[in-house]
Amino acid sequence: MTEHLTVVDHPLVQHKLTIMRDKSTSTKSFRQLLREISLLLAYEVTRELPMTTERIETPLETMDAPVLAGKKLALVSILRAGNGLLDGVLELVPAARVGFVGLYRDERTLQPIQYYFKVPEDLADRLVIALDPMLATGNSSAAAIDLLKEAGATNIRFMCLLAAPEGIARMKEAHPDVPIVTAAVDTKLNEKGYIVPGLGDAGDRMFGTK
Ligand code: URA
Repeated sequence: MTEHLTVVDHPLVQHKLTIMRDKSTSTKSFRQLLREISLLLAYEVTRELPMTTERIETPLETMDAPVLAGKKLALVSILRAGNGLLDGVLELVPAARVGFVGLYRDERTLQPIQYYFKVPEDLADRLVIALDPMLATGNSSAAAIDLLKEAGATNIRFMCLLAAPEGIARMKEAHPDVPIVTAAVDTKLNEKGYIVPGLGDAGDRMFGTK
Protein backbone atom coordinates (compact mmCIF):
# COMPACT_ATOMS: atom_id res chain seq x y z
CA MET A 1 0.00 0.00 0.00
CA THR A 2 1.56 3.29 -1.06
CA GLU A 3 -1.03 5.87 0.04
CA HIS A 4 -0.81 7.07 3.63
CA LEU A 5 -4.59 7.59 3.74
CA THR A 6 -7.28 5.65 1.91
CA VAL A 7 -10.91 6.70 2.32
CA VAL A 8 -13.23 3.89 1.30
CA ASP A 9 -16.00 5.80 -0.46
CA HIS A 10 -17.92 2.72 -1.56
CA PRO A 11 -21.68 3.46 -1.52
CA LEU A 12 -22.46 0.56 0.81
CA VAL A 13 -19.85 1.73 3.31
CA GLN A 14 -21.14 5.30 3.23
CA HIS A 15 -24.77 4.26 3.58
CA LYS A 16 -24.09 1.97 6.52
CA LEU A 17 -21.93 4.62 8.18
CA THR A 18 -24.76 7.17 7.99
CA ILE A 19 -27.08 4.79 9.82
CA MET A 20 -24.39 4.19 12.45
CA ARG A 21 -23.95 7.93 13.00
CA ASP A 22 -27.68 8.42 13.68
CA LYS A 23 -28.16 8.56 17.44
CA SER A 24 -31.48 6.72 17.19
CA THR A 25 -29.78 3.58 15.79
CA SER A 26 -29.99 0.73 18.31
CA THR A 27 -27.01 -1.10 19.82
CA LYS A 28 -28.03 -4.22 17.91
CA SER A 29 -28.11 -2.44 14.55
CA PHE A 30 -24.93 -0.49 15.31
CA ARG A 31 -23.04 -3.71 16.04
CA GLN A 32 -24.38 -5.47 12.96
CA LEU A 33 -23.49 -2.52 10.71
CA LEU A 34 -20.01 -2.28 12.19
CA ARG A 35 -19.49 -5.93 11.37
CA GLU A 36 -20.67 -5.40 7.80
CA ILE A 37 -18.55 -2.28 7.27
CA SER A 38 -15.48 -3.99 8.70
CA LEU A 39 -15.75 -6.68 6.04
CA LEU A 40 -15.75 -4.01 3.35
CA LEU A 41 -12.86 -2.11 4.94
CA ALA A 42 -10.94 -5.37 5.31
CA TYR A 43 -11.37 -5.97 1.59
CA GLU A 44 -9.60 -2.65 0.98
CA VAL A 45 -6.88 -3.04 3.62
CA THR A 46 -5.91 -6.48 2.26
CA ARG A 47 -6.04 -5.41 -1.39
CA GLU A 48 -2.28 -5.56 -2.02
CA LEU A 49 -1.36 -8.66 -0.07
CA PRO A 50 1.59 -10.48 -1.65
CA MET A 51 0.65 -13.46 -3.77
CA THR A 52 2.32 -16.58 -5.03
CA THR A 53 1.00 -19.56 -6.97
CA GLU A 54 0.26 -23.14 -6.00
CA ARG A 55 -0.07 -26.03 -8.40
CA ILE A 56 -3.55 -27.58 -8.17
CA GLU A 57 -5.68 -29.99 -10.17
CA THR A 58 -9.03 -28.68 -11.32
CA PRO A 59 -11.46 -31.33 -12.60
CA LEU A 60 -10.13 -30.47 -16.08
CA GLU A 61 -6.40 -29.83 -15.81
CA THR A 62 -3.40 -28.77 -13.77
CA MET A 63 -2.96 -25.06 -13.12
CA ASP A 64 -0.71 -22.74 -11.17
CA ALA A 65 -3.34 -20.87 -9.18
CA PRO A 66 -2.89 -17.70 -7.08
CA VAL A 67 -2.74 -18.02 -3.28
CA LEU A 68 -1.66 -15.65 -0.51
CA ALA A 69 2.09 -15.72 0.16
CA GLY A 70 3.88 -15.70 3.49
CA LYS A 71 2.73 -16.03 7.07
CA LYS A 72 -0.81 -15.49 8.25
CA LEU A 73 -1.89 -11.92 8.96
CA ALA A 74 -1.95 -10.61 12.48
CA LEU A 75 -5.00 -8.60 13.47
CA VAL A 76 -4.51 -6.46 16.54
CA SER A 77 -7.55 -5.06 18.26
CA ILE A 78 -7.01 -1.89 20.23
CA LEU A 79 -9.34 -2.50 23.17
CA ARG A 80 -12.11 -2.20 23.64
CA ALA A 81 -13.70 -0.67 20.57
CA GLY A 82 -11.29 -2.47 18.20
CA ASN A 83 -13.17 -5.68 18.98
CA GLY A 84 -16.13 -4.32 17.04
CA LEU A 85 -14.02 -4.34 13.86
CA LEU A 86 -12.30 -7.62 14.67
CA ASP A 87 -15.31 -9.92 14.15
CA GLY A 88 -15.96 -8.73 10.61
CA VAL A 89 -12.30 -8.87 9.56
CA LEU A 90 -12.00 -12.39 10.98
CA GLU A 91 -14.93 -13.47 8.85
CA LEU A 92 -12.96 -12.45 5.78
CA VAL A 93 -9.56 -13.70 7.02
CA PRO A 94 -10.49 -16.59 9.33
CA ALA A 95 -6.94 -17.94 9.65
CA ALA A 96 -5.50 -14.65 10.90
CA ARG A 97 -3.69 -14.53 14.23
CA VAL A 98 -5.11 -12.11 16.77
CA GLY A 99 -3.56 -9.80 19.32
CA PHE A 100 -4.90 -7.24 21.77
CA VAL A 101 -3.58 -3.93 22.99
CA GLY A 102 -5.34 -2.46 25.99
CA LEU A 103 -5.13 1.31 26.20
CA TYR A 104 -7.49 3.70 27.83
CA ARG A 105 -7.61 7.41 27.42
CA ASP A 106 -7.05 9.61 30.44
CA GLU A 107 -10.07 11.90 30.05
CA ARG A 108 -8.18 14.88 31.46
CA THR A 109 -4.90 14.69 29.54
CA LEU A 110 -6.29 12.62 26.60
CA GLN A 111 -3.05 10.60 26.85
CA PRO A 112 -3.12 6.78 26.44
CA ILE A 113 -2.43 4.48 29.41
CA GLN A 114 -1.51 0.84 28.67
CA TYR A 115 -3.15 -1.95 30.69
CA TYR A 116 -2.88 -5.03 28.42
CA PHE A 117 -0.60 -6.30 25.64
CA LYS A 118 -0.71 -9.74 24.07
CA VAL A 119 0.23 -10.30 20.44
CA PRO A 120 1.13 -13.28 18.21
CA GLU A 121 4.73 -14.41 17.87
CA ASP A 122 6.79 -13.58 14.78
CA LEU A 123 5.16 -10.19 14.27
CA ALA A 124 8.19 -9.23 12.17
CA ASP A 125 7.19 -11.78 9.52
CA ARG A 126 3.52 -10.83 9.34
CA LEU A 127 1.41 -8.07 7.95
CA VAL A 128 -0.11 -6.52 11.06
CA ILE A 129 -3.48 -4.80 10.82
CA ALA A 130 -4.24 -2.61 13.83
CA LEU A 131 -7.95 -2.09 14.42
CA ASP A 132 -9.59 0.85 16.15
CA PRO A 133 -12.84 2.36 14.92
CA MET A 134 -12.08 5.95 15.97
CA LEU A 135 -8.86 7.76 15.03
CA ALA A 136 -9.42 10.83 17.19
CA THR A 137 -6.38 12.61 18.70
CA GLY A 138 -4.22 9.78 17.36
CA ASN A 139 -2.45 9.54 20.73
CA SER A 140 -3.63 6.04 21.60
CA SER A 141 -3.29 4.82 18.02
CA ALA A 142 0.28 6.12 17.78
CA ALA A 143 1.07 4.58 21.18
CA ALA A 144 -0.39 1.22 20.09
CA ILE A 145 1.73 1.29 16.93
CA ASP A 146 4.81 2.13 19.06
CA LEU A 147 4.14 -1.03 21.10
CA LEU A 148 3.65 -3.16 17.98
CA LYS A 149 6.93 -1.88 16.54
CA GLU A 150 8.69 -2.59 19.85
CA ALA A 151 7.31 -6.15 19.55
CA GLY A 152 8.96 -6.47 16.13
CA ALA A 153 6.26 -5.46 13.65
CA THR A 154 7.63 -3.76 10.55
CA ASN A 155 4.70 -3.99 8.16
CA ILE A 156 1.65 -2.40 9.78
CA ARG A 157 -1.65 -1.00 8.50
CA PHE A 158 -4.22 0.86 10.53
CA MET A 159 -7.91 0.31 9.90
CA CYS A 160 -10.59 2.57 11.36
CA LEU A 161 -14.13 3.68 10.73
CA LEU A 162 -13.82 7.42 11.31
CA ALA A 163 -10.77 9.64 11.40
CA ALA A 164 -10.28 13.24 12.53
CA PRO A 165 -7.76 15.41 10.64
CA GLU A 166 -5.85 15.83 13.92
CA GLY A 167 -5.47 12.04 14.31
CA ILE A 168 -4.36 11.57 10.72
CA ALA A 169 -1.73 14.31 11.15
CA ARG A 170 -0.53 12.77 14.44
CA MET A 171 -0.19 9.32 12.85
CA LYS A 172 1.55 10.71 9.78
CA GLU A 173 4.07 12.45 12.00
CA ALA A 174 4.66 9.49 14.34
CA HIS A 175 4.27 6.62 11.86
CA PRO A 176 4.52 7.76 8.23
CA ASP A 177 5.14 4.13 7.24
CA VAL A 178 1.71 2.98 8.48
CA PRO A 179 -1.06 3.37 5.88
CA ILE A 180 -4.50 4.28 7.24
CA VAL A 181 -7.73 2.91 5.80
CA THR A 182 -10.94 4.64 6.95
CA ALA A 183 -14.57 5.00 5.89
CA ALA A 184 -14.58 8.79 6.40
CA VAL A 185 -12.58 11.79 7.53
CA ASP A 186 -14.71 14.07 9.73
CA THR A 187 -14.40 17.79 10.42
CA LYS A 188 -12.56 18.07 13.72
CA LEU A 189 -12.30 17.08 17.37
CA ASN A 190 -14.38 18.83 20.02
CA GLU A 191 -12.95 20.05 23.33
CA LYS A 192 -13.46 16.59 24.86
CA GLY A 193 -11.53 14.86 22.09
CA TYR A 194 -14.62 13.47 20.37
CA ILE A 195 -14.80 13.35 16.59
CA VAL A 196 -17.49 15.65 15.14
CA PRO A 197 -19.91 15.13 13.59
CA GLY A 198 -18.78 11.59 14.47
CA LEU A 199 -20.98 8.94 16.00
CA GLY A 200 -20.32 9.38 19.71
CA ASP A 201 -18.44 6.88 21.83
CA ALA A 202 -17.95 3.85 19.58
CA GLY A 203 -17.41 1.46 22.50
CA ASP A 204 -20.55 2.60 24.31
CA ARG A 205 -22.60 2.42 21.14
CA MET A 206 -21.46 -1.09 20.14
CA PHE A 207 -21.65 -2.57 23.64
CA GLY A 208 -24.63 -0.59 24.90
CA THR A 209 -22.82 0.67 27.98
CA LYS A 210 -24.48 4.08 27.96
N1 URA B 1 -13.45 7.61 20.71
C1 URA B 1 -14.77 7.46 20.41
O1 URA B 1 -15.35 6.41 20.66
N2 URA B 1 -15.41 8.47 19.81
C2 URA B 1 -14.82 9.63 19.49
O2 URA B 1 -15.48 10.51 18.91
C3 URA B 1 -13.45 9.78 19.80
C4 URA B 1 -12.79 8.75 20.42
